[in-house]
Amino acid sequence: MAKPKPPVIQQAVLNFSGLPNPQHLVTGMPPYYTTQQGAAYLADSLDVLRALPDASINAVITSPPYALHFKKEYGNASKDDYVSWFLPFASEIRRVLTDDGSFILNVGGSYNQGVPTRSLYHFKLLIALVEDVGFHLAQECFWFNPAKMPMPAEWVTVRRIRIRDSVEYVWWLSKTEWPKANNRAVLKPYSKDMLRLNAKGLNGTVRPSGHNIRTSFSDVDSGGSIPANVVEDEVPHDMLKMGNNAANDPYTLRCKEAGIKIHPARFPAALPEFFLKLLTSDDDIILDPFAGSNTTGAVAEKLQRRWIAVENVEEYLSSSRFRFEQVIDRLE
Ligand SMILES: C[S@@+](CC[C@H](N)C(=O)[O-])C[C@H]1O[C@@H](n2cnc3c(N)ncnc32)[C@H](O)[C@@H]1O
Repeated sequence: MAKPKPPVIQQAVLNFSGLPNPQHLVTGMPPYYTTQQGAAYLADSLDVLRALPDASINAVITSPPYALHFKKEYGNASKDDYVSWFLPFASEIRRVLTDDGSFILNVGGSYNQGVPTRSLYHFKLLIALVEDVGFHLAQECFWFNPAKMPMPAEWVTVRRIRIRDSVEYVWWLSKTEWPKANNRAVLKPYSKDMLRLNAKGLNGTVRPSGHNIRTSFSDVDSGGSIPANVVEDEVPHDMLKMGNNAANDPYTLRCKEAGIKIHPARFPAALPEFFLKLLTSDDDIILDPFAGSNTTGAVAEKLQRRWIAVENVEEYLSSSRFRFEQVIDRLE
């Protein structure tokens, strides 16, 4: 007879700083697994969001299923229905955020069916999030993903009408007009050219645009240059310029070894890492309501933030534990 599984122990553990694991916030729902810093739930995220208290989450970082023509295996709302599908999640997300909290939403664009023109669904979504739900647009950011396929093939590689897409939209929304954020936490090293110019001394000038160019930037030097909302320099500090096809990360390797399907739509760890550093500090609580392989939770664990992840497909959540093999406290 198969040995019965041990029961899930439902007591809050303390994280590295002695603060409670955020599972204590989700009343009445047992986590699927927990780690020192976080708790993952196999559930519909609307249910978990509704169980969370007001103003309990510092940042939501997520990538929901996009509205695509071809249905991905986990199901996507169609473009026409997308905004109405998403708004109930968005209202709950706004409610659970602290007043200085941010909502980072990664969505991909899409073509109109049968023609080589683009849908406006992600812009309509942004407008609804601001005008109907009450978010503020802190900044529109872009994830440069050089690994994106030249799709749709009909327009890009067959008829050669369109060029290849290589960005995805990352809407940085905030609950109020004053989100907590610190760009000093994401500074990039100055380029060799900038350092050389600074050492040589620039000619102070006024650009045609009217901007003053100083003779040196040493007086404003705070340890690095301020990243753009699309970063185009080299790794490792070019954190948004990352493909999502990493073939050698431990999650991918362990999935392959175990013969488990790799999540088909992961974002790179660099994406949540950038925004976690920009928007949160140690022990803050981060939520990913569409967690997939739980990239966000793994990055939060590494950065010593606390996290809650929700995914409604067990296969994805189960293998997401590979990301925490060294640190998981209890499995189901
Ligand atoms: C684009 S993927 C997220 C991938 C993730 N960022 C990663 O790096 O692995 C979106 C995920 O949302 C999940 N999902 C869709 N609707 C959901 C819901 N109502 N509640 C919880 N998860 C949901 C899907 O199963 C899918 O795994």
